[in-house]
Order: sequence, then structure tokens, then C-alpha cells
Amino acid sequence: MSKVHVLPADVISKIAAGEVVERPASVVKELLENSLDAGAKRIELHLKEGGKSLVHIKDDGSGIARDDLDALFTRHATSKVAAASDLEAILSLGFRGEALYSVGSVAEVALRSRAQGSAEAWEIAVKGGEKARPVPATMPSHGTDIRVGEIFFNTPARKKFLKSDAAEFEQILNVVIPYALLYPERAFLVTHNGRTVLDLGVAASPAGRAAEALGLESRHIIAPKPIEDSVCQLRMLLGDINIQRPRRDLQYLFINGRPVQSRNLSFHLNEVYKLIFPPAVHPFFAVMLTVPAGDVDVNVHPTKREVRLRDESRLAGFLRRVVEQALMSGTSAREVTADRPEAFSLTSAAPGAADGRAEGVPAAKLVFAPNQRSVVPVFIASDESVRPAVVNDLTTLATPSEQLTAPFITETSVTLKDRLATARLVGTFVRKYHLFESGESLFVVDQHAAQERILFEKFRRQIHAGKVEVQHLLTPLVMNVTPQEMLSWENSGERLSSFGFEVEQFGPAALALRAHPAVMPNPQQALRVLLAEGELTRIDVDVLASRACRASVMAGDKMDAAQAAHQLQALLACDDPYTCPHGRPVFIELKSSFLDRQFLRT
Ligand SMILES: Nc1ncnc2c1ncn2[C@@H]1O[C@H](COP(=O)(O)OP(=O)(O)OP(=O)(O)O)[C@@H](O)[C@H]1O
Ligand SMILES: [Mg+2]
Repeated sequence: MSKVHVLPADVISKIAAGEVVERPASVVKELLENSLDAGAKRIELHLKEGGKSLVHIKDDGSGIARDDLDALFTRHATSKVAAASDLEAILSLGFRGEALYSVGSVAEVALRSRAQGSAEAWEIAVKGGEKARPVPATMPSHGTDIRVGEIFFNTPARKKFLKSDAAEFEQILNVVIPYALLYPERAFLVTHNGRTVLDLGVAASPAGRAAEALGLESRHIIAPKPIEDSVCQLRMLLGDINIQRPRRDLQYLFINGRPVQSRNLSFHLNEVYKLIFPPAVHPFFAVMLTVPAGDVDVNVHPTKREVRLRDESRLAGFLRRVVEQALMSGTSAREVTADRPEAFSLTSAAPGAADGRAEGVPAAKLVFAPNQRSVVPVFIASDESVRPAVVNDLTTLATPSEQLTAPFITETSVTLKDRLATARLVGTFVRKYHLFESGESLFVVDQHAAQERILFEKFRRQIHAGKVEVQHLLTPLVMNVTPQEMLSWENSGERLSSFGFEVEQFGPAALALRAHPAVMPNPQQALRVLLAEGELTRIDVDVLASRACRASVMAGDKMDAAQAAHQLQALLACDDPYTCPHGRPVFIELKSSFLDRQFLRT
């Protein structure tokens, strides 16, 4: 007897359905994508028991015509793809014609729809793959209404593996929220067991939507101008230094309008934030990338979560650079005029926030902004790291568990500069921090961050003036290089010389450094960092300058008192003395009144 036989149709359908429908969240994903594909402007999602007993979706999209109902819930029935060539350039979220069929084979479904331009509505019921005949129904306007109940009633093994209602509901939110971020111009309502959980009206801006959907302050979200060129389009929302998460739970990546996961791209994005973040905290970002349809393959897995990209490492490099640049220009400190008295907070102003800047202008920052809602910013020490945070009431933090260490600047930066100018060096702590005293305050200056800022401004000024001061070396410094570094040098000679680096080839695998920018204490290290970038002419000059400076001050140099005092004066001469080029704070202020409180003297 032969062992090989073709499976019966009902077994085939359950296997296929199993790949698409893993849990209630998968049903939500498929139905939501259909509603979005249908151009719905408002989507309502009503759930019961984590979606296990009911997923009910209502949209005001184009609807489904009576003639199309008979084909619905049949495998490979789709309106979105007709020929194999269409797969090369998929513009809709759906394309396989599998979702409804799969949902219909593992659940009980009632679908009602009224097509745009039609006066009639129809309803069709399906249970475990068995379709009933469509019957007339009534609907006030066009759109589609689908109820999915009894998920996995005929696959008990799968039903057993479902998690608690709360866990399943969380998964559903994880599906809905990325789409809410992607479509700020559409409204979303989500209820669970009759309770409204998300009610997002049409948002004024992508940042506004993200703030509302994720419970963030929109002034902490940087929305750089979208980048559009022939190869790709990029829109981004980037949390600033004030949004620090213990988990990577607010990180969203979209490729060609589809939420995707990519360990590689997400690794690189997190790396950029390490320039400004303390260890063990993670940023918020939503990165929406559009590349030519031919460069991305979404047809890897039925759930379409994974995508394959052509030239992924080049793309990662590009992303790194633009995010770094956006953070740099988006988080530089801003001075405010002295006419607003007292209480200025270290916080971030979102584009279009209270200060009236236009939306999309990449000027969101770490600023000394007027404190309008009695928000007192503080730095809180946790373990090794110093974490800036904004709290509403200073007293709420004065508990032992919270270890409050330093209220931040509460005055205009003009008088702040004056006070710092006359500050007296008290000493240096762990070779990293200079302590200055001025009046009733102790200023703790991060020596490296300060040095980075000073170098960067000096170097940048010289580069932009086309007059980089060069230090010639009597004996060239010879560096062994990798083939990639050699290639990068070959492609970047011009940019390197405009930066003041004179480099020659020295044998097949070495370069000789003959001259370097005079401001750089550690030029070899800086050169190494630049060569790691590949083709330097493609990268923004300020980004390169900041990286070179950062690399150049890495060493934990010891400074004597005169050097420390000199550093402070050089810092105060900077345009932007309060943060490092990437936006990390350069110093914090500890007021004596604060210490008094810690010692219970008041
Ligand atoms: N909410 C809706 N509004 C309008 N048309 C819909 C809706 N849901 C489904 N459809 C129609 O039903 C068809 C089948 O949907 P289904 O989700 O099964 O397949 P698909 O979206 O084409 O592809 P995929 O399986 O990749 O999702 C769609 O192509 C679309 O024409
Ligand atoms: Mg679909």
C-alpha cells in the first residue's frame, strides 16, 4: 500500500489557516489590514475576552459588492493581485487572498458589507469553512462590519495554547498601535469588554498621534523633515533624551507601509542613541522607510512580518547617519531670553510646540524652556547612570528609593553663564567630573562631554571657514588598516584633506598619517572612526566632525586644576555649552538648598 497520499481539503485548510491565524491578534491584524486597504477613514475594533470570544471590526471603507461575496472566504480570492508581475510591486497590505479564508476555517464569522455607491448591503456567514448563502442586510452607509467569534472552536489544541485574556489583548494592541502610528490621518477606536482603551481621532501630525497613542509628551518627540530621494523615502519620529524606556517596547520600524521587524536595522538605531543615553535604557523611535518595491521581499512568510531587503547593510549605515544627524540638530541646547523669569526646565520642545515653531522644523531640543506647568526637571541617580527626568513635583521624589541628586537649572542661561564664569574649582571626582562652586550651587561638569563640545565647535568653525589648522608630523604615524578602511580612504581622500588629515598609502595594508587637525588630541583614533564610515563624501560634515571629536577625547585624561579651569572658560565660550554635540548634558547643578533637604536640615 502506498504511503503517500494527498491530504483531504479540510486538513489542508486547517494547516494553511494555522500559518495565518495563530491567535486573536492575527485575526485583528488581517481584518485591520483589509480595512486599511479598503481606504477606511475610521476603524472601530470591539473585543471580548482578549479577542477569544469576539473580534468585531467596523470600517467605513469601500465595502464589498454583492458580486464579490460568492468568491469571499475561498482560498486565493483577492481583489489586490491579478498576475504574477503584480507581486513585484505590491502596494496593498494584503495580496495573498488567504486571510478571510483562513479566519473562516477556524472560527465563526459574520460579514456584512455595503459597497460604495450601492444602496444595498449583504451579509454572509461562515463557520469552520462552511459558507452560507449571502442574505440582504441593512447598513446606514458604505463599509464593512465583521464579527469573528469562537476562534479555534474546531482546533482545540491551538485554543489550549492561547494565553490569558490580558496577554492576548496586549498582543492585539501591539498589532493596532503601529498602524495607528502609520496612519495619523485615520481614526481608530478600540474597546475591550465594553471599555474604551484607545480612542484616537484624526491627529494633527504624526508626532501628535504618537504622543496620544503611546502616552508620550509630544514636545519630547523630534519629527525631522522627511527625506525623499530617488532611492528611498524616510519619515521618522525620534524620542529625545527625555524618553528613556527600560525595555525596547517603543521602537517601530515600517518598510513600505508595513510594520516589520529587523534585528539588524533596530540594532543600528539603538547604537546611535547610545551616544546620548546612559546604559540599559532604550529610546522611542518610529522609522518609516519606503524603498523601491523590487528591493524588498515581503513574501517570505504568510504573516508578512519578516521582510528581506536588498543591500541591508548600506541601508543601515544610511539610517544611522540620518538619525544621528537628526538627534544632533534636534537636541542642541537653545538659549532663551531673560524676559521670562525663573523656573526654566531642561526639557524638549517639540516642533510646533508652545514656542510657535512650525511643524516639521527639526528644532526639537534639549532646551531651557519656560516652565509653564510647574514641571520641575531633575536628574535622578540610579546605579552608575544619571538619568534626566521630568517630574511634576520635586517633593514626590524625596523618598529614599528615588535618590534625588540634582535639580537642574532654574534660571535663564544668561545669568547661568555669568555664575559659571566666576565659579571656583573645588576638585575633580573620579577623574571624570570637575566640581565647581558658585554662590549657593555646586556645578558638576562632565569633563569628556565638555571637551567634546569644545573640540567640536572649534573644529566645525574651522571646517566651515575652509581653514582647518593643521599639525604636521615630523615622523608620520603609520597605521595598519583593513581592506575596507583602505577602500574608504581611497574614496574619501578629498573629504579627509578638507578636515585637515594628510594621509598617504604606506604599503598594501597601511596608511601613513602625515598631518592632522591641530585641535585633535588623538588624531589616529579620529581617523579610524572616519574610515569606518566608508564613503565620507556622502555624510554630513557636522556628523563626521562630531564623531571625530568624540573619538578623539575618549581617553580618560587626567587634568590639573589649571586645565580644568581653562576647560570651563573654553566651554563657556561655546555657542552651545550645555550639551555635548549629541545632546548629552555637559553639567548639572546641585543647589545647597537641595542638599539641605537631603540632610533634613529644612
Ligand atoms: N474590510 C474590507 N473592505 C473591503 N473589502 C474587503 C474587506 N475585507 C476583505 N475585503 C475583500 O476581500 C478580499 C479577500 O480578503 P483577504 O484578506 O482574504 O485577502 P487579501 O487582503 O486580498 O490578501 P491577504 O490574504 O494577503 O490579506 C480582498 O482582496 C478584498 O477585496
Ligand atoms: Mg487581507
